[in-house]
Amino acid sequence: MRLGILTATITECDFFPNIIELKIIGERKGHKVDLFKNGEFNLIVDTNSTKLYYNGKPFDPSCYDIILNRLSVREKSNAEYYVVDEFLKAGVPVINSPDSIMKARNKLLSLQIMSSLGINITRSAIIRRPEDIDTILKEFSFPLIIKNIFGSLGSSTLLVYDTKQLISTIDYIWNVNRNEIFLIQDFIKSDDDTVSDFRVFVLGNEIIASMKRTNSDRDFRANYKKGAHVKKADLTIQEKEQCLLISKSFGLEIAGVDFIRTKDGPVFLEVNSNPGLDGIRLATKTEGFDILEKIIVRLDHLKMKK
Ligand SMILES: Nc1ncnc2c1ncn2[C@@H]1O[C@H](COP(=O)(O)OP(=O)(O)O)[C@@H](O)[C@H]1O
Ligand SMILES: [Mg+2]
Repeated sequence: MRLGILTATITECDFFPNIIELKIIGERKGHKVDLFKNGEFNLIVDTNSTKLYYNGKPFDPSCYDIILNRLSVREKSNAEYYVVDEFLKAGVPVINSPDSIMKARNKLLSLQIMSSLGINITRSAIIRRPEDIDTILKEFSFPLIIKNIFGSLGSSTLLVYDTKQLISTIDYIWNVNRNEIFLIQDFIKSDDDTVSDFRVFVLGNEIIASMKRTNSDRDFRANYKKGAHVKKADLTIQEKEQCLLISKSFGLEIAGVDFIRTKDGPVFLEVNSNPGLDGIRLATKTEGFDILEKIIVRLDHLKMKK
């Protein structure tokens, strides 16, 4: 297959090592793999025609069999999807699809979707006015989590222990942007009293890897990029079924589903449409298993279904 990998890597930076590794593995399997930095595409749109250029040279998206979309999800707007749209217009499948990404990138929408599936989720409140803080205080108890709807890598998730912290944090957020919509959540405790969560890597309709992430001493967040310790994990049947139900309902071909294992079963946090590869690869790689290899094989399979 001819595979293109679209990344958000900026011109000044090198591709992430795991993206380079995907290219090496793909080429070892006889595929042609090209890596792209989204910001190096430019586009001329005219009546009845669009011309795409990559690094100043005319670019024909229809040469590709399939595109792996690794664009970052931090941006609230989807303006950077102009390249994805050109691939789709040329009939080239893009994994994950923009539709599924739009659902997963918005944590509030994701929770609404999971809630309607009957999945146990982190109870979350939305407030828009200072006077609504009292409603929260009646319903929830400390510690509480405050979370940006579009955050990622743990960087927009806060922990507050009391009313003073809650009020001053919300005041700060609304001072930066009075229209900011954020989540207030119960702090979910793990069944084993550790501060941990599970990351389940779904490819197609299959769970191909799962790990437990335990926080570092310095942080309550269990993100790998925040120093969490990662370890391969086994899942219960219920956890597996729910992860697959979620990824399928979102229409995600590749998904990182996160939950906390509690005394009352799994409580789901979020779904990642562009799940990190480093932590999960480290936790699950063996002589006979490499998550990157699985991704290449799956993309080749999908291309054949086209
Ligand atoms: N409601 C919660 N209760 C307990 N821990 C949480 C809660 N929400 C988030 N966390 C912790 O913070 C981390 C980051 O939060 P998450 O919602 O996954 O945002 P991000 O998209 O930035 O990874 C999670 O992996 C988890 O360890
Ligand atoms: Mg997360």
